[in-house]
Amino acid sequence: MCGIIAAASTRNVGKLLVQGLHKMEYRGYDSAGIALHQNDSIAHLRALGKVQLLEDKMVAEKPKSKLGIAHTRWATHGEPSEINAHPHQSKNNVYIVHNGIIENYIELRESLIKDGYEFLSQTDSELIAHLLDLYLKQSNNMIDAMYLAKAKLEGAYAIAAIDINDNESLVVARNKSPLLLGLGTDEILAASDPLAIGQLTNEFIFLEDGDVAEISAEAYTIFDANKKQVTREITKIDISSQATSKGEYKHYMEKEIYEQPQAILNTIDGRIGGDDVLDNIFGLGSAELFAQVERIQIVACGTSLHAGRVAANWFSSISELPCQVDYASEYRYRNPHVDKNSLLITISQSGETADTLAALRYAKEKDYLGSVGICNVPTSSLARESDFVLFTNAGPEIGVASTKAFTTQLAGLMLLALSLAKSRELNPILRKRVVTALRTLPEVIHETLKLKDQILAIAPAIASKDNALFLGRGVFYPIAKEGALKLKEISYIHAEAYPAGELKHGPLALIDENMPVIALAPESEIAEKLVSNLEEVKARGGTLYVFADPSVTMDVNNGAVISMPKCDFLLTPIIYTIPLQLLSYEVALLRGTDIDQPRNLAKSVTVE
Ligand code: AGP
Repeated sequence: MCGIIAAASTRNVGKLLVQGLHKMEYRGYDSAGIALHQNDSIAHLRALGKVQLLEDKMVAEKPKSKLGIAHTRWATHGEPSEINAHPHQSKNNVYIVHNGIIENYIELRESLIKDGYEFLSQTDSELIAHLLDLYLKQSNNMIDAMYLAKAKLEGAYAIAAIDINDNESLVVARNKSPLLLGLGTDEILAASDPLAIGQLTNEFIFLEDGDVAEISAEAYTIFDANKKQVTREITKIDISSQATSKGEYKHYMEKEIYEQPQAILNTIDGRIGGDDVLDNIFGLGSAELFAQVERIQIVACGTSLHAGRVAANWFSSISELPCQVDYASEYRYRNPHVDKNSLLITISQSGETADTLAALRYAKEKDYLGSVGICNVPTSSLARESDFVLFTNAGPEIGVASTKAFTTQLAGLMLLALSLAKSRELNPILRKRVVTALRTLPEVIHETLKLKDQILAIAPAIASKDNALFLGRGVFYPIAKEGALKLKEISYIHAEAYPAGELKHGPLALIDENMPVIALAPESEIAEKLVSNLEEVKARGGTLYVFADPSVTMDVNNGAVISMPKCDFLLTPIIYTIPLQLLSYEVALLRGTDIDQPRNLAKSVTVE
């Protein structure tokens, strides 16, 4: 999704701004642009498509500047085009970049047109430039103009703005959209994503909602929502030391799939000891709070939601708690009833997903015992706003398609199921069994990754089709859904998932030789029933690709049965995810899609 970077420096900033845009490419975008202050003029360059095209323009024009703003855009209002790309400007006086959505843009646009402003783009963002120009005329300084503009703006935004009459400082503002400052040597930076400026500094200030900040090469000043000057904590993070290169792999997604044994180890490391989960791994006081829990509500989106649906089974079987799972985008709109002693759980890789954050903020007004976040980004809004949090420690996930984030979320959620059971003094033998199995999990994943050759053999048959059906039962139904999501998002093959028992209630009508069926058949009490469901597919000419426990035998038309490594049943959903990730990756590779940045998608969805 959109990315902002801004810099005030004693050196030329064009190159570092473009490098910052490259670092944010993984977020997904359709166009890029830059505005560089050149004392009496502003160099304004934009390009539809890749950041490289913007860089080519920069190389051709070689603008020099010590103050600038830059942006990658992911279209919300108005098609992807150069004219809709940021920065937007007003009368060549004010240039802005914006992340988020201005909800009252129609009304503001009409009023600005009446004030004589001409709109060149179809975006909601352009009006911010005009508003600032209007208020600059009244106040003569950008801080005051920004507060006057903020009073009019409804919605979510992170903004960076430059004024033609000020070649030393720029102003940024944050409301419900991430924005941070970076304190460099002889330069101060602002960005929506720490990765954009992680090569330039280890010192970050995470702005809060309502904050406005002015930055120059030597100094910064932060004001809060009430325009009171404030001091915000400086956080030290060494982002440049975190592996963010592809290394020997073709794609980040491939690298992240193969990182899973280590990532899972990082999730469980220091959190289990002896025969049990350690106390208070979700934060001090969490063990006591968990003892009071009588019901669980999970909210999340996409892959993270699938992790929640798997975990709901574990909360039931291990922690003996009822659990409801909602799409974060739906939760607030169903007037949810909150039972006494309910715990809210949010799951998010990025911790910046607007729908999940909005659900968390909404739930805070309700009568929950507390909130627990399962999150991969320690500096995220979700991490800061949750009462308790467990970081999945997966390391940066750059591929838009979530892989290691998902399996580490599952490991983190298993730790939560165990912690709840421990606080409620339940199932010590089962807890010991799971803890023992968790220790072997990285090794089992390592074994599972060796299935690559067998997956390579079936990938062409699936890559040549336009549709695919994924089947699973029980806790494997959300895994089937995750498999279908992976395939559709990176290979653009239409894929759906069903609980296998539902086939005969409708989807069986879709089965023919053009509908590959990918099924998950672990050893379970319903394995036989699943095999019967798969026979129904076979009898209708469907080709089956079954990932199965070695004990499950069946004949498949021209498809394949791939035997899975053994592990404790409770952890098998994690293991069965791995071949589905590999399969979607290999299929996408054959179809030649943009695997790390699939069309229309963003890594971190910061608009509702
Ligand atoms: C996963 O492959 C997707 N890219 C997407 O569904 C993602 O899981 C969803 O947008 C939620 O993101 P989050 O975990 O960062 O909140």
